[in-house]
Amino acid sequence: MRQILVTSALPYANGNIHLGHLLEHIQTDIWVRAMKAQGHQVTYVCADDAHGTSIMLKAQEKGITPQQLISEVKSSHQADFAKFLISYDNYHTTHSEENKEFSELIYRRLSAEGHISTKDVEQLFDPEKSLFLADRFVKGECPECSAKDQYGDNCEVCGTTYNATELINPYSTLSGATPVLKTSKHYFFNLPEFEDFLKQWTKDKDRLQSSVSNKLQEWFESGLASWDISRDGPYFGFKIPDTPEGEPDKYFYVWLDAPIGYMASFKNLCKQRQGSTDPLKPELNFDDYWLEQNQHKTELYHFIGKDIVYFHALFWPAMLAGAEYRTPTSVFAHGFLMVNGEKMSKSRGTFIQAETFAKHLHPEYLRYYFATKLSDKVEDMNLDFADFMQKVNSDMVGKVVNIASRSAGFIAKKYDGMLSETCAEPELVNDIVRTGEEIATAYENREFSRAMRLIMQCADKANEYIDSKKPWSMAKEEGKEQEVQQVCTVAINIFRQLMVYLAPVLPELTDNAKAFLNLDNLSFASRHDLLLGHQINKFKPLMQRIEQSQIDAMIEDSKQDLETTPTSSVATVTNDIKSSSNNTHDTAANDYIEFDDFAKVEMTVALVLNCKYVEGADKLLQFTLDIGKVQPINVFSGIRKFYQPDQLVNKKVICVTNLAPRKMKFGISEGMILSSGDPKTSLVVVTVPDDCKVGDKLA
Ligand code: MSP
Ligand code: ZN
Repeated sequence: MRQILVTSALPYANGNIHLGHLLEHIQTDIWVRAMKAQGHQVTYVCADDAHGTSIMLKAQEKGITPQQLISEVKSSHQADFAKFLISYDNYHTTHSEENKEFSELIYRRLSAEGHISTKDVEQLFDPEKSLFLADRFVKGECPECSAKDQYGDNCEVCGTTYNATELINPYSTLSGATPVLKTSKHYFFNLPEFEDFLKQWTKDKDRLQSSVSNKLQEWFESGLASWDISRDGPYFGFKIPDTPEGEPDKYFYVWLDAPIGYMASFKNLCKQRQGSTDPLKPELNFDDYWLEQNQHKTELYHFIGKDIVYFHALFWPAMLAGAEYRTPTSVFAHGFLMVNGEKMSKSRGTFIQAETFAKHLHPEYLRYYFATKLSDKVEDMNLDFADFMQKVNSDMVGKVVNIASRSAGFIAKKYDGMLSETCAEPELVNDIVRTGEEIATAYENREFSRAMRLIMQCADKANEYIDSKKPWSMAKEEGKEQEVQQVCTVAINIFRQLMVYLAPVLPELTDNAKAFLNLDNLSFASRHDLLLGHQINKFKPLMQRIEQSQIDAMIEDSKQDLETTPTSSVATVTNDIKSSSNNTHDTAANDYIEFDDFAKVEMTVALVLNCKYVEGADKLLQFTLDIGKVQPINVFSGIRKFYQPDQLVNKKVICVTNLAPRKMKFGISEGMILSSGDPKTSLVVVTVPDDCKVGDKLA
């Protein structure tokens, strides 16, 4: 039995949980449940990331203590995650006794080994607030183009990056006061001393995804810098121990004790489990999971977003190695969530909070949709609501649940809930049992989209089987009673297997299915046991169709959240804290795409059959394209500003033909026409020579 410790990144304790966080926690949770189903001992811990200036200021703003704030936020985070069925073994906080102990211990060990140094740093200081100002709290005129009200790190008008000290007429965004330059001593973790270790560490094939490894190579090439791990008071965090007498207090920068929070949450769980006799909540030994000599006895995995790779693949392993702890077995990074093709936006109502989603739609819909789109790659994911509704309705309701609902009635009515004694289609049923191996591998490799495809193929086979047998017609014929029971028994057995396969994604649905199937076990191994001569219970609808009105209402509600959420919420704060980490490296880990990703894009030579204006849309042209198929396709393109409709008729263009269809206000767009240039000022549609054949793919 493998012993595995798994974490999701610790959400900041100053904003609500939103769909971006959920992407990560759902991904982790599905993996954890799938690995548990394989019989491994998996422990999943998380916590709130409770320290830092933003949390201190937010508490001040609300007139409460930071402790009060973080405890309120923690309750709300836990309630949100519970709604989405995230099955942590422990959810702790970084503002804990355990975390203080480990942070001090690790710091002292690093210091004893000479890995900590100090340096004077000159920084802007708010004399009214008596606070050093991180870049996000200073504004002024851009030193390059003189644009007003630019932040302390870069100009949004001309794109220049600079130091806050270079701003002209700077002011503090906290008090409006003119900041002054002030020097103070900072503590640094000497990351360059770990360069050789890190290069070796990242070489291990399973340690990091390939795009992350590539990013790390770039970081090595541009050189590692020492990391500023201290902040001056006032600060909400842990004091740095052993600083010289008489000097002002120094605090650990929030990112120093945040990853240590993984250890601390686990330690806290070990205490809770002490003396436990519950086999589902076994005793855990801290040292087994964290001591260097136990690297290979247990496994440690961190699920994180691509924006925090620098912290998890460089600082964290270096800190652990320097303090003689084990390092992670692997770090799994995911991309960012987009909604309807764009960054989540508050004004468009696509910055959706977990709570708002759950108010309008069943959380398992989101779990399923994310599963259909998640892979082991660091790719951004688009939540397109038209696609979301279509997938859930057609896969879950139309295919999977339908297998049970169309068979259960006959069994209940005619056979008193009793399944037949023999299996009429052992081949088909065995085929689906065998597919289980592939599905399990896909889960383990975090290829959830592949797992979902395999499961839907099984569902298709079951539905084809039922369609070919037509039990509803047989039921009307005399002498076919037994056959009806047999067909429905095959269907119910396949349904049970599908429930086993979907259990990591849809724990609540599968629990309800357990009651219907009259089973107390849907473990992975149980898929081999056929249900024959077995009594099942009355069927109750297991999942409802999504209605467009529910989605509309959720988006409306999200727009209203805007009014109740202070502007300093998650998005802003996240950026600040990450950009104040003293490096410019913590950007996207996937500037490259894999060849496979490129190869997925299907570009087809298309002939413009028709092109016209769209009434009520001042940016769009509507195209009818021949792409070499029987039916022409319909495509909307935002190029009205640059073309008269007849200019493009009869031209051969290039169209991406395997984009998910996009529902727009004016109809469905089934592809995308390639053009070049700047969509604001000038765009030219790419046309191809006449000897290119319509329907040919670009190669
Ligand atoms: N507190 C730090 C993590 C410390 S881990 C030792 C932090 N917090 S966060 O709340 O900003 O983000 C938590 C996680 O959510 C990160 O992994 C981040 O990448 C992820 N996401 C936040 N917004 C996201 C999307 N829009 N999409 C996908 N994941 C995103 O960073
Ligand atoms: Zn500028």
